[in-house]
Amino acid sequence: MKHLLKLLDLTCDEIISLLNLADQLKYEQKRGIAHPHLAGKTLGMIFQKASTRTRVSFEVGMHQLGGSPLFLSASEMQLGRGEPIEDTAKVLSRYLDAIMIRTFAQSDVEGLAEHGTIPIINGLTDSWHPCQVLADLMTIREHKSVLKGLKLGYIGDGNNMANSLIVGCLKTGMDITLAIPAGYPPSKEALDFAKDYPDSFTLTEDTREAAKDADVIYTDVWASMGMEGEAEARRKAFEGYQVNGGLMALARPDAMVLHCLPAHRGEEITAEIIAGHPEIFDEAENRLHAQKAVLVTVMK
Ligand code: CP
Ligand code: NVA
Repeated sequence: MKHLLKLLDLTCDEIISLLNLADQLKYEQKRGIAHPHLAGKTLGMIFQKASTRTRVSFEVGMHQLGGSPLFLSASEMQLGRGEPIEDTAKVLSRYLDAIMIRTFAQSDVEGLAEHGTIPIINGLTDSWHPCQVLADLMTIREHKSVLKGLKLGYIGDGNNMANSLIVGCLKTGMDITLAIPAGYPPSKEALDFAKDYPDSFTLTEDTREAAKDADVIYTDVWASMGMEGEAEARRKAFEGYQVNGGLMALARPDAMVLHCLPAHRGEEITAEIIAGHPEIFDEAENRLHAQKAVLVTVMK
């Protein structure tokens, strides 16, 4: 594995190896066992969008691995003044050992990988959020011991999270049912991938179908970063697509709730459901451990 651009590029075995390494790194970190696998190495972190979890977990993760993180705000780079991705990739490859980038277009992430010579990690684009889904799968396995055969019910927008969950769940043997209102579907790339899994994949507009007997209920914001202008229209379109007590009553009694965060209480999820499901914060913590596994795998 040279890069992490999207989960479509990984085999099931590669995903499971990352989760196993993440579990090991978490175990060691909790016991104070140092693991300086990346001593002397530097990760550049380019951000074109806001972040709390991704920035802090990558930065802390690099420190814990003995390396150095370098925060780069795209708006303060020449990239933000029109310097091409191609030149940025070539130059940064001369200084850094890897790049994590959060941006809008997936093509920018792919462009860095194409024109640079160092590993590239996707820290979220409009299309995919692979690091988040690795942490999600790690959290599900931690709580349920297995992935294969579990049902994840996704309620909400057909966005980067929906796309990545489709691929991550299906590749690891999970079933996924997504309840998404008309007009907000997952990407064609994700839906094409799902065609190979007709028995494990369902796309519906019915939230009850997604929640029914689910082992994991997942939701995300109705308006992702960059879509702020559509927030009002989306609030109307997504009315009824809320994870609340009524919907949870349809899931398995021991169902987990996951949310990549940040959450908008009262919109896609109620405050009560977040308060009753602290595993959402295990999920946030696991960003750190899962990404350390990615960093070690691509940089060591
Ligand atoms: N879930 C996630 O990626 O959070 P941030 O936007 O805070 O990085
Ligand atoms: N779908 C959300 C995820 C944030 C972590 C967004 O892209 O803003």
